[in-house]
Order: sequence, then structure tokens, then C-alpha cells
Amino acid sequence: MCSLDAGLKPYRMSCFTASNAFFFLVAWEVMALAAYFSQKTWPNLQQPRAPADVAAHALQAMNAVVCSSCHQSQYQGDGTQPRLAGQGKDYLQQSMIDFRNRSRANNPGMSDLMRSISEDDIAACAAYLAGL
Ligand code: HEC
Repeated sequence: MCSLDAGLKPYRMSCFTASNAFFFLVAWEVMALAAYFSQKTWPNLQQPRAPADVAAHALQAMNAVVCSSCHQSQYQGDGTQPRLAGQGKDYLQQSMIDFRNRSRANNPGMSDLMRSISEDDIAACAAYLAGL
């Protein structure tokens, strides 16, 4: 549970709970964190490239939904569109499943897109994207 003082609201971007303590990040702290992480090089998780049949399956689904219109042509993301290339395979798959069943509800558009493809499509997409 997290309540914000109405007068402070414009300056308080988000709050997290940890061990019953409440932490508030103010706008400049959020900006500093974003600047710090944006300078880091993407870690190589040594994930294998998807086999050709899995890649073909993924590309069929991804071309139908045009994932790259938001996530960019190399799936490297931009601004508010997250990078997908090289993210952990299990994380990618679970994120898409969570959007699909709406347990991740912060982007209804992504949920609608994930409901337009099958769970098999999602598994192929996760394997393909993880191996990029
Ligand atoms: C209309 C724009 C749009 C399209 C098209 C789109 N996405 Fe997304 N996607 C987003 C946005 C925006 C987010 C971030 C949502 C958030 O958490 O705020 C996201 C989040 C994700 C995430 C979670 C990433 C993370 O780091 O948590 C995955 C995985 C993903 N998209 C995969 C896909 C795949 C695969 C496709 C195509 C089948 C696709 N998206 C199509 C806009 C889009």
C-alpha cells in the first residue's frame, strides 16, 4: 500500500515496497537511473539461435502482428518500447503469456496483440528473440 501526498504528487514518480519500508523515487532519481542503465552494454546471455523451423514459425507470427513497428527492426527497442533481442528466453515467454492472460495489465494493447497469436507462436517468438 502506498499513498502519496497530493501536494507532492507531481514530483513523486513511483514507489516500491520492500520489507515494510517505503521508498519514493523523485523525478531526478528516475532520470539518473535511466541515464545510468542506458549507458550499459547489453549483456550476452549466450543463448542459442533458434533452429530454422522455430525461427520461421516466429517470423510468421511476428510479421503478422508487425512487432517491429514498435520494438524496431532489430528488436533493440527505443524510448518506451522495450528491447526484446537477447532478453532471457523464459522471461520473454512469461512476459508474453502474462500479457496474454492479462496478469500483466500495464499495457492493454500488448495484451490484445498477444491474444491474437497462440501460445505456440509465443514460445517460438521467445526462442527466436532470445537468440538474436
Ligand atoms: C503497438 C506497439 C507494439 C507492438 C506491435 C508489439 N509490442 Fe510488445 N510491447 C510494446 C510496449 C509499449 C511494451 C512495454 C509495455 C510496458 O510494460 O509498459 C511491450 C512489451 C513487450 C514485451 C515485454 C518486454 C519486457 O522487457 O518486459 C515483450 C516480450 C513483447 N512486447 C513482445 C512483443 C512481440 C513478440 C510482438 C509481436 C508479436 C510485440 N511485442 C508487438 C509495444 C508493442
